[in-house]
Amino acid sequence: MIHEGPVAVSAILQQLRTLVREVKSRAYVPYSGRPAAVVLLLSDGAWIPGVRVESASFSLTIPPLQNAWTTAVALGRRDIVAAAFSEPVDVSSRAFLEELGILPEVECADLLTASPEALPGLREPLTPFWNGQLTLQQGIPVARQVARRAWAPHSDFPVGCLLQLKDGRCIPGVNVEHPDWTRTLCAERNALGTALSYGITPAAWQALFLSCLKDTQGTPCGACRQLLAEHRPDLPVWMDRGLENPPQILRVDAMLPGFFVLQ
Ligand code: THU
Repeated sequence: MIHEGPVAVSAILQQLRTLVREVKSRAYVPYSGRPAAVVLLLSDGAWIPGVRVESASFSLTIPPLQNAWTTAVALGRRDIVAAAFSEPVDVSSRAFLEELGILPEVECADLLTASPEALPGLREPLTPFWNGQLTLQQGIPVARQVARRAWAPHSDFPVGCLLQLKDGRCIPGVNVEHPDWTRTLCAERNALGTALSYGITPAAWQALFLSCLKDTQGTPCGACRQLLAEHRPDLPVWMDRGLENPPQILRVDAMLPGFFVLQ
């Protein structure tokens, strides 16, 4: 449904509730069985989904708000005007946004917004894809471009990646740091969380391209290896070795032999 001008918050909230219910079914929650989701509304009415992605190693679980926010940054959008939650807004989600300073006080049980009067009419979901389809040769050079979207004020270590799908389309991921470092997400898990939030299942993934220009020996951290292994242990990862050298390619399960599974 497309509206031209601003719409009353109550009307948009009803629509957001319907959306967030649909998105919630994409959550990856094999351990708790308790799905959760967030929809971030952008200033032009486009929106970004984020789902809870659990890990067998519980503390690596990606909360829905962090998932959606990191997607927004990787897609070059930070103009968030509202966040709608499938569950009552929890203290940790509130703190997450407050520390970023992106949404002030107005809220009801399942909505945070800076605009008490009106919100933009809902449009389509923001497309999660990088422009155009990529060949294998383009993967690393484009991952270098993606890294420019990283938000890394604490480390000054920008990382970019592209999760290529079997149909050639690519989902970008960047590292997104947070004043509370424990809420920082790496580029690789950012792309993984985006794919799942948009309902793009691991069977559709083809390869991951990874680049950090500051580190020509760069490899995924242990947490990213674990999450990737839980979804696609056989996924090839192409790692940038700088302008002089060809990329190194390793399967995820070769990077984390004996990775943890919870039976
Ligand atoms: N980082 C990644 O994005 N991917 C990795 O595999 C390793 C680390 C980010 C996280 C943080 O923003 C910065 O690099 C320093 O750890």
